[in-house]
Amino acid sequence: MVTSRRLRWGIIATGNISVKFAKDLLVDPSTRGAFDVAHRVAAVGSRSVRSAQRFIDRLKTERQTSGVLESEIEQCKAYGSYDEVYDDPEVDVIYIGTPHPLHHSNAKRALEAGKAVLCEKPFTMSVGELDELIRIAKEKKVFLMEAVWTRFLPIMFRVQEVIHSGKLGKVKRLFADFSIDFNPDDWPYSWRMIDPALGGGSLLDMGPYPAVWAMMLLHRHPFNTNGKPPSLVFSHQTIYKRSGVDANSRWLLNWDGVGQAMCVTDMTAHGTHYGCVIVTCEKGDLILDGSIARPSTFHIITRGKDGPTADDEKETFNVPVPAGVGMCYEADEVYRCIRDGKIESERMPWEESRIVQGWFDEIRAAGSG
Ligand SMILES: NC(=O)c1ccc[n+]([C@@H]2O[C@H](COP(=O)([O-])OP(=O)(O)OC[C@H]3O[C@@H](n4cnc5c(N)ncnc54)[C@H](OP(=O)(O)O)[C@@H]3O)[C@@H](O)[C@H]2O)c1
Repeated sequence: MVTSRRLRWGIIATGNISVKFAKDLLVDPSTRGAFDVAHRVAAVGSRSVRSAQRFIDRLKTERQTSGVLESEIEQCKAYGSYDEVYDDPEVDVIYIGTPHPLHHSNAKRALEAGKAVLCEKPFTMSVGELDELIRIAKEKKVFLMEAVWTRFLPIMFRVQEVIHSGKLGKVKRLFADFSIDFNPDDWPYSWRMIDPALGGGSLLDMGPYPAVWAMMLLHRHPFNTNGKPPSLVFSHQTIYKRSGVDANSRWLLNWDGVGQAMCVTDMTAHGTHYGCVIVTCEKGDLILDGSIARPSTFHIITRGKDGPTADDEKETFNVPVPAGVGMCYEADEVYRCIRDGKIESERMPWEESRIVQGWFDEIRAAGSG
């Protein structure tokens, strides 16, 4: 329960993504036109109290240029364990930013302590693990959500509007690619993208992003009237020999009556900046530029009746995040759900996390076959 107007966040782990998320919590919500939410970073838990304190100090010193609410970190507590955060009565909601294989046990412990949970993607390592979390959230009547921030970005709403309005006609296919050449050979085996014990590989880490565009544009398309999960037509993974995780994954999904989505992840080759997502429709294409997690530009290219030409009309739309990285929008969703007594978000429902987690289970079981 939120016991004050501010939602008091407990941050679990002090790695790369926790820093970005916590910084976004401190961005003044009015800079994004949100006047009904307020966040506070109330506690940080780490395996080492020094790391927790360093994290807090960093948030206090590495200020964004403007629009930061400094008071919302002032009283933040540093803990040398995650348990102390789960058990702190002055924390309302736990943000989990640990490596994937820890998500299940961290979220379970938080839910059992009666805390709401926002858990980084991929939610868990399997649908079975996720189902257990959902069961506990229902039993305890506490909020639980996977942190797929791209769902909540303003650009996602705009792109959905275009595709779902039928302005470009029926969707023929969608292509979504998240590929970065991380040069894994240059990294130690213990890096979480490489080590299987830390959930290494491209699919689990990068897969949620092609998946989010397929889910939001095709699964949520008005033509998907039965709301059924798509079929996974085929998948392929190339194995990174050093550790046996996937260097890349590709999978094709089919929604009857809606369209197909080809999803790609790769940690050994760069994707293109232009066209990380391409939605091919009857009358033209919608093309997103930039990072697939957080694009800020899209184009609508309307095709003539004789097929594509260099003279096709192109309209460009910029939909930037006004301040911060953009993870604040998912935090606002958590605020509003908890305020309204919901245990599940309608924009990031458990069933849609289960569908995506199910693809990952299937793709990993099929492996490189
Ligand atoms: N939403 C996004 O855009 C986004 C982006 C990147 C990553 N992520 C997700 O966030 C999660 C963390 O990614 P990250 O890039 O932040 O990883 P990271 O920089 O390696 O941080 C992970 C943190 O987890 C804690 N941890 C606990 N047990 C650990 C162990 N055995 N080995 C390593 N770390 C351990 C550590 O914090 P303490 O030492 O403080 O306990 C560590 O700093 C992943 O599940 C990833 O998929 C999401």
